Amino acid sequence: MKKNPSRNVHFTKGSSNLLDTINASIDVDQRLYKEDILGSIAHAKMLGKQKIISKKDETNLISGLKSVQKDIEKNKVFFSKKLEDIHMNIENLLLKKIGKVAGKLHTARSRNDQVVTDLKLWIKSNSLLLDYELKNFQKTLINVAKKNTATIMPGYTHLQIAQPITLGHHILAYVEMIGRDRSRLNDCLYRLNENPLGSAALAGTSFPIDRKYTTKELGFREPTKNAMDSVSDRDFVIEFIFVMSLASVHLSRIAEEIVLWSNQQFNFIILPDELSTGSSIMPQKKNPDGAELVRGKTSIIIGNLVSILNIIKGLPLSYSKDLQDDKSLVFNSFDNLILCLKVINEIISKSNFNKTRMKEVVDKSDSTATDLANWLVKNLNYSFRDAYKITGKIIVYCQQNKLNIESISLKELRKFDKKISIEAMNVLSSSNSVNSKSSFGGTSPENTKKMIKFAIKKYLK
Ligand code: ARG
Repeated sequence: MKKNPSRNVHFTKGSSNLLDTINASIDVDQRLYKEDILGSIAHAKMLGKQKIISKKDETNLISGLKSVQKDIEKNKVFFSKKLEDIHMNIENLLLKKIGKVAGKLHTARSRNDQVVTDLKLWIKSNSLLLDYELKNFQKTLINVAKKNTATIMPGYTHLQIAQPITLGHHILAYVEMIGRDRSRLNDCLYRLNENPLGSAALAGTSFPIDRKYTTKELGFREPTKNAMDSVSDRDFVIEFIFVMSLASVHLSRIAEEIVLWSNQQFNFIILPDELSTGSSIMPQKKNPDGAELVRGKTSIIIGNLVSILNIIKGLPLSYSKDLQDDKSLVFNSFDNLILCLKVINEIISKSNFNKTRMKEVVDKSDSTATDLANWLVKNLNYSFRDAYKITGKIIVYCQQNKLNIESISLKELRKFDKKISIEAMNVLSSSNSVNSKSSFGGTSPENTKKMIKFAIKKYLK
């Protein structure tokens, strides 16, 4: 049986198998091996510099740690559950490699500050990948927008057709959302960029450590200010999982639109065969499973946020073992989000938009009614409320006579106000409608082109 270094002479019996099962986190936290070794090397250097250990011991510890890392990367090590976690496993591997001097590494630190240091380092380095995937998705969206600055489609409120918009404008909405996700990630990284190492178990240490030195070595901005806070709180985990949850919520909304748009009754998007699945019973079916799974996995990511909030809310200061489960939540959210980003990215970049169908739906929808009301305000001096009323009457007339507003004649329009002139007819077309929406942030093709340039400069440089 492996001896767990955290079980001292005051234990008369080894741990039970059941306790080992609930206590061991190695299956999850072995993902932190690189960060753990990085933190340990910085710690060993600091111990040497401060003469808490000899130069010789420092050198031995560092070369031993590097060699353990190589062994792990060559798949030459076996991680033991008896040794609980990555910290104990690495210490044990080091012991086997360099002998008893390995025991000096844990001077002036505890697993409590070690694990927070590792996790912060992991989030910092893996956020680069997350930001890369978010940016890459923005790039895909911008490319679709570029091709569709003048593609007219229905814009919805309450999922009812509201006004004509351009597909480019619709797509750019998501570019903005993802842009804020990236900026939130950045904010969260700023706050977490404080070094907890040297907080030890909860009280700090009586050894003359140099926390500023390890802070610099590990690339943190500054050391944390309160040892108890450092080992107890996981607000950086909550924030990181929240940032991921919100990004996944944005993806889920796109996923939902893909599901809707690929439905036969919308028929706005044609999913490529390689991104659709069939039914085991209905031979005609092409299902948008990828998008549905993104929508579903978002619930799991949101669930992780609720879990971590709940884990923290009832914990007295400082460290409690409940905190150990934070890592599986971080990894699970991260892996799911990266996967969802890749999947949605592929769907958006490979799908075909059915422009004819989108235009057809707009043109049958009376969605330029607001444009007519605006014309009445601008040209016949109506108040908007009166213009709204008269346009409403025109719509009822169209419906009763099975007409679309676009195909109503001037003569018919004049039944509602003799002063209505031929110019009013122009505002009834969907292309005129989108062209006219040139206010900043509006849907006009000109504006959409401008916003694409702006987005490229802001997000892709
Ligand atoms: N595996 C533990 C965790 O992830 C490391 C800290 C253990 N500390 C302790 N006092 N038992 O939280």
